Amino acid sequence: MDQKRVLLIIGGGIAAYKAPELVRQLKAQGLATRCLLTAAAEQFVSPLSLASVSGDKVYENLFDLTDEAEMGHIQLSRDADMILVAPATADLIAKMAQGLANDLASTALLATDKPVMIAPAMNVRMWEHAATQRNLAQLAEDGIGIIGPDEGDMACGEFGLGRMSEPAEIAQAAKAMLAQTPARDTPLTAAKPLAGRKILVTAGPTYEPIDPVRYIANRSSGKQGYALAEALAALGANVHLVSGPTALNDPKNVTTKRVETARQMLDACTACLPVDAAIMAAAVADWRPAEAQEAKIKKTKSGLDDLKLVENPDILATLSGHASQRPQLVVGFAAETNDIENYAREKLARKKCDWIVANDVSQNSGIAGGVMGGDDNQVHILSATQTLQWETMSKTAVAAKLAAHIADYFAATKEHE
Ligand code: CTP
Repeated sequence: MDQKRVLLIIGGGIAAYKAPELVRQLKAQGLATRCLLTAAAEQFVSPLSLASVSGDKVYENLFDLTDEAEMGHIQLSRDADMILVAPATADLIAKMAQGLANDLASTALLATDKPVMIAPAMNVRMWEHAATQRNLAQLAEDGIGIIGPDEGDMACGEFGLGRMSEPAEIAQAAKAMLAQTPARDTPLTAAKPLAGRKILVTAGPTYEPIDPVRYIANRSSGKQGYALAEALAALGANVHLVSGPTALNDPKNVTTKRVETARQMLDACTACLPVDAAIMAAAVADWRPAEAQEAKIKKTKSGLDDLKLVENPDILATLSGHASQRPQLVVGFAAETNDIENYAREKLARKKCDWIVANDVSQNSGIAGGVMGGDDNQVHILSATQTLQWETMSKTAVAAKLAAHIADYFAATKEHE
């Protein structure tokens, strides 16, 4: 098969100095690279060094293209099998989210119908800014792969999320993304590897009524499940989200059903079968009051002394053990405060699901504001045969990466069909 080709767009951030190493790593993955520098990137890395590692001309700005002998921006994007943007600055991400095209990089990005992956790198405050997160959510919805950023010391002297992922990791992710695309010269409609798959996602807490005004609940915000539903839909899946009460808007391009209690959630999930995959991100209340009182319980009498709790049905275990309609892939989540991997592995066995996505919800997870309700997450993915530990990233980035992992799973099972 022809060598696959990457158009590497290098944005104007300090991490641009890693671009020559990234080109080497892409080469090590068997990929040919052509580089395109934004005007700002030229301040951080020399076109000459990139030309020598890539063995190709380096493209610098739109005015290069006035010469007929040069390759037009349309041709530049067409000639590549994918576009990789590294480092993706806040400015480039914003341009991509808006569909702006006012220089060679943004024009090539708008002109492409090939898969696109970005490796963000910026100051932690810029990364955390609502505008950047909004733009990233838009890119995830548009089906763009997002790798990183990582946490660490930054060139600006601060510590936090915002360092570009390591070149070797980016090159591996680019190779994985390319593995999902059809061979060269087959028409590419869009990167929708989950088209034709029906996927059920649960999210949020459940509310278990004690009386008309009180309920038992937990701190789940629903953010991770909603982001996942949206990321799966962006990859072409037909997504059905069953959500407990949350403050979030319905995710885009997803069929959303709102419920309150665990039993309602179970009913809504079983009504959705058959599905190809079930991803259970909800924090279902383990217990409910045996009887919800019709009138408000008064403080005066015995109060809640007589409150009897009964166990709720386990939705994940029910779907995993479904006799006739077990989804091909059943994924559970595990929120743990200690001994994460051991508990998660025990849960994998007990609930008979295929993967567990485990996260640390303790106060000392190191994640600003905590995982529950916060915007970042750090997860382990466990299956019968492997444990993957992903770096800390935004819940949107976890969702995009998990959706891609699910797409890889289905692509691999298809090869064996
Ligand atoms: N889950 C479920 N139905 C329940 C309880 C949990 O579907 N009644 C699912 C959650 O959506 C999640 C997984 O099971 O995917 C693990 O949830 P968790 O609350 O961590 O597991 P528990 O079985 O409650 O274990 P424990 O609370 O003892 O850690």
